Amino acid sequence: MTFRQRHLLGIEGLAPDEITAILDLADSYAALNRRERKHSNALSGLTQINMFFETSTRTQASFELAGKRLGADVMSMAMQASSVRKGETLIDTALTLNAMNPDLLVVRHPHSGAVDLLAQKVNCAVLNAGDGQHEHPTQALLDAMTIRRRKGRLHRLSVAICGDIAHSRVARSNLLLLGRMGNRVRLIGPPTLMPAGIAEFGAEVFDDMREGLKGVDVVMMLRLQKERMDGGFVPSEREYHHRYGLDADKLAHAGPDAIVMHPGPMNRGVEIDGALADDLSRSVIQEQVEMGVAVRMAAMELLARNLAKTSE
Ligand code: CP
Repeated sequence: MTFRQRHLLGIEGLAPDEITAILDLADSYAALNRRERKHSNALSGLTQINMFFETSTRTQASFELAGKRLGADVMSMAMQASSVRKGETLIDTALTLNAMNPDLLVVRHPHSGAVDLLAQKVNCAVLNAGDGQHEHPTQALLDAMTIRRRKGRLHRLSVAICGDIAHSRVARSNLLLLGRMGNRVRLIGPPTLMPAGIAEFGAEVFDDMREGLKGVDVVMMLRLQKERMDGGFVPSEREYHHRYGLDADKLAHAGPDAIVMHPGPMNRGVEIDGALADDLSRSVIQEQVEMGVAVRMAAMELLARNLAKTSE
C-alpha cells in the first residue's frame, strides 16, 4: 500500500509513489467508465458530502459522479442556499456536517488555506477541490493522467504552462507534480501575470510564447482569471490574445506531436483559439474531463482505504 495520506489537500504533500498509486488505480477506473455498466462498490456504505463555496462545472460534477459510481451516498450541498447566507462560518458549517458522520468531504473555497484549516476540525477525509490561488490537486492529477496516457510516460517531458500563472492554483499544483515526477517545466506569460518568487520552483520563465514553446511535448493553457483581477494586469483581451493566445501559428513552435491542454472553463479567442481547442488531432481537453472522473474515483477510494485502516 503506497498511498499514506489521510486527506488530499495538495500535491505538496504527495511523494512520487503516491502520485503513481493514484494514477494506476485511476487507469482501471477509466476503463470501467467506458463500459455500459460503470458501478463498483468500493465506497459502498460510505457518505460523501460536497461543499462548493465557488462555482464549478467539471470538478463538482465529476466528484459527484465518482462517488455515485463507487456506491457512496453522495450529497452535494447548495452552499448559496445554506446557513452560510445567514452568517454561519466555514468552520461551524464544517463542524455541523461533520456531526452527521460523513466519511469524505470534498471542499472548494475561494480562500487559500481554507480547506487545510477545515481538515484540522473534522474526523473524515477531506479532498481539496480548489482553494483560492493555492492548490487544485485533483486537476493536476487528471492532467498527469492524460499526459501519461498520451505520451506513454510521466517523466523527462518538457511541459509549457502558459498564461495567467499568478492567479492559478492549477499552475501551482501542476508545477509541483510535474517537477516531482522528473519533468522540465516552462512558464510562459506576461511579467504582470508571473508571481514573485516563481524561480524557486525550478521552472524556466519566458514572456515570449514562440520562444517558450520551442520543442515542448505538452502545451498547457490557463484561463485568464478575470474574476481575480482588479485591473491593470493585461492591456486588453485582444492584445493578450495576440501575444499569448494559443493558435496554430504559435503551436507550430512546439514539438510536432505536442498535445494541447486546458483545465477549463475556456475563454475562447482569449487564451486559446476556439478552432484549435476543438481540433482533436492536438487538443486533449475533453479527455482531461473524462480522466477527471477516474482520478477522483481513485483518490476517494485510496483515502477510504486509509480511513478503514485507522478505524481498525
Ligand atoms: N477545471 C476546473 O476546476 O473546472 P471547474 O471550475 O468547472 O470545476
